[in-house]
Amino acid sequence: MTSFWSWYVVILTTGTLLALTWLIFATRKGQRSDTTDQTVGHVYDGIEEYDNPLPRWWFMLFVGTIIFAVGYLVLYPGMGNWKGILPGYDGGWTSTKQYEREITKADDKYGPIFSKYAAMSIEEVAKDEQALKMGGRLFASNCSVCHGSDAKGSHGFPNLTDNDWIWGGDTETIKLTIMKGRNAAMPGWEAALGNDGIKNVTGYVRSLSGLKNPEGVDLEAGQKSFNTMCVACHGADAKGNPMLGAPNLSDRIWLYGSSFAQVQQTIRHGRNGQMPAQEDFLGNDKVHLLAAYVYSLSHGAKDQ
Ligand code: HEC
Ligand code: HEC
Repeated sequence: MTSFWSWYVVILTTGTLLALTWLIFATRKGQRSDTTDQTVGHVYDGIEEYDNPLPRWWFMLFVGTIIFAVGYLVLYPGMGNWKGILPGYDGGWTSTKQYEREITKADDKYGPIFSKYAAMSIEEVAKDEQALKMGGRLFASNCSVCHGSDAKGSHGFPNLTDNDWIWGGDTETIKLTIMKGRNAAMPGWEAALGNDGIKNVTGYVRSLSGLKNPEGVDLEAGQKSFNTMCVACHGADAKGNPMLGAPNLSDRIWLYGSSFAQVQQTIRHGRNGQMPAQEDFLGNDKVHLLAAYVYSLSHGAKDQ
């Protein structure tokens, strides 16, 4: 803030406070201190007004708010460029400093618990009830926006509670997925296959999951295209390749929907699912807990 605006704020605020203080004391002066039956003399629709002073507790409440305001403006930044002198905040309170202090406090408190779990194997952590509760809370605040609060996912966001893994479901792979993130790259085939080609290969892929296709789809031609263009990533048996994040196309589980139009859209234009990396944001110890939590969703206690 430039010093002009700083002084502008200071003068306006001080002026208002002084004016209010004057107002409440000035209007009290000259009033009788006891309660009487005397009225001020106005009558509105038969309603009259007693000429009595403000009750004492009410008056003190006003005085209290003024004292509070002064105290607040000394401690916190509010008066132009004044930074406040709240103890414990070197150079004055800011919301960022308060946030950082709370984070440090939480890290001090929970850090040892997180590192205790980080030293255990993910399978072991996945059996620890307290760890799963903490993992569940981390999941709710960091992952549920995309994967859903029940972790069952939705269009484009995989279900984490089934045993179908795009990138691999062993404990270390799950952790790696969360730490480093994933970028899936399914190319679009519109240019290479043309309209009919796309239609046929769409039909073929859907037939692998036992789905019925509309009339006029040539499954044999579709299979031929599949064997030349798709096997490199999805495999000859179409069971996918976790190294590339290419999903199994024969398991009736669809990330982007199973209708003819949806599968066709995927093949025509491609897809680029992105799982954001959490390493820098959450750090190893929290991700370790999250990996255990995710692992537990399809293994162990919750299945029984
Ligand atoms: C911005 C949305 C988003 C957020 C937030 C997010 N994810 Fe993901 N996640 C995805 C997407 C999209 C994929 C699938 C990527 C792909 O298409 O292969 C994915 C994939 C995964 C996978 C791999 C699933 C498989 O089948 O291999 C795991 C495990 C996972 N996420 C866990 C998490 C955890 C734990 C968190 C919270 C720290 C999280 N995700 C937060 C979008 C998100
Ligand atoms: C370069 C590797 C690669 C090739 C080649 C490839 N795909 Fe894919 N495909 C992927 C990846 C990776 C995904 C996952 C995309 C995502 O998660 O966003 C995918 C996803 C899909 C899906 C969506 C599955 C679902 O669950 O919704 C279909 C359908 C599909 N591919 C069909 C094909 C067909 C048909 C071909 C050949 C014409 C093909 N793919 C060629 C890598 C490939």
